[in-house]
Amino acid sequence: MKVKKKQDNTTLYIVIIILLACIITYLTIITIHEDKQVGVDNETPITVIEGKDTTKEEYIYKEDLLTLGYTNNDVMEIEKTFTKDEVKNNLLDKKYNNLLKFKESKYFNINNLNRYQNYFDKNKYTEEQAVMYVEIGLDVPFYTNIKSADTSKGSLILVNKYYSINESYDANLETLGDGYGKGKLNKEAAKHFREMVDAAKKDGIKLRSISAYRSYSSQKSIYNNYVSKDGRTKADTYSARPGHSEHNTGLAVDINTASSSAHFEKTKEYEWLINNSYKYGFILRYPEDKMFITGYKYEPWHYRYLNVEVATEIHELNVTYEEYLVMAREKEV
Ligand code: DAL
Ligand code: ZN
Repeated sequence: MKVKKKQDNTTLYIVIIILLACIITYLTIITIHEDKQVGVDNETPITVIEGKDTTKEEYIYKEDLLTLGYTNNDVMEIEKTFTKDEVKNNLLDKKYNNLLKFKESKYFNINNLNRYQNYFDKNKYTEEQAVMYVEIGLDVPFYTNIKSADTSKGSLILVNKYYSINESYDANLETLGDGYGKGKLNKEAAKHFREMVDAAKKDGIKLRSISAYRSYSSQKSIYNNYVSKDGRTKADTYSARPGHSEHNTGLAVDINTASSSAHFEKTKEYEWLINNSYKYGFILRYPEDKMFITGYKYEPWHYRYLNVEVATEIHELNVTYEEYLVMAREKEV
């Protein structure tokens, strides 16, 4: 009887040991599995911030970010918003006070973060505006870092105080002809200009070119004359330096006047152009109060040919060409 009882206990111990072994194996597998999902480097968690296990490498970034002055909440947001490499390569040199707001912009580019922060700190713009304006390049003073305009863009070429064309640029010109005013325009622009003038005529509106294409040398003498009259700083607000004028491309035309004192903006011709020019591919290139972007005072008479599609988008968005190009960059991706 005694021997039999001892045998029964042995069986019970074996069953208990097997059960314990199963439980330990199960727990070990679960722990390894969870580590793989949470930890980037699969290391042992060494600290907890806001309840989240943190591996050693992430912990180092978090400590660095906290040391820079970010709050625990900021750090959690940064972790959600940026990749580990972005944190490592772009966010550890200094604290960016407006980082998370900049990141909300569709046009945010982490490589320009320092420029956004500097521009934001020096100006009274929102974070969204600061990102847009830096993407345009407005944090660099006009005429200080001039690049060659991208001539492969055809009628969409950007020519301004940052981008210029040289004397050998082929504008592919054509005379506007009788009934359309003075000068020549690029062939495609000329065709659309004539269509626009004809359509306006049907509405009882008379439009004429008073200045269209200007060669590099003629722009040079026009600009130099203004400089002698008004000084360089003032001349730069209304006249382009040679190579920087849209008139050099044969894609711009001054309609009916080119003088602020004529108050073209108060005429029915101006109203017609504002409501219709985009249908023929033209935009008002230097709108009121946009000098900080375009570099020029309001020119209600200066129209720039792009193409019908782009001019229509710009009309609907009510933005400058510079802003549009940043927006379009985002769409291309
Ligand atoms: N008046 C414009 C800005 C030009 O000179 O091209
Ligand atoms: Zn003009």
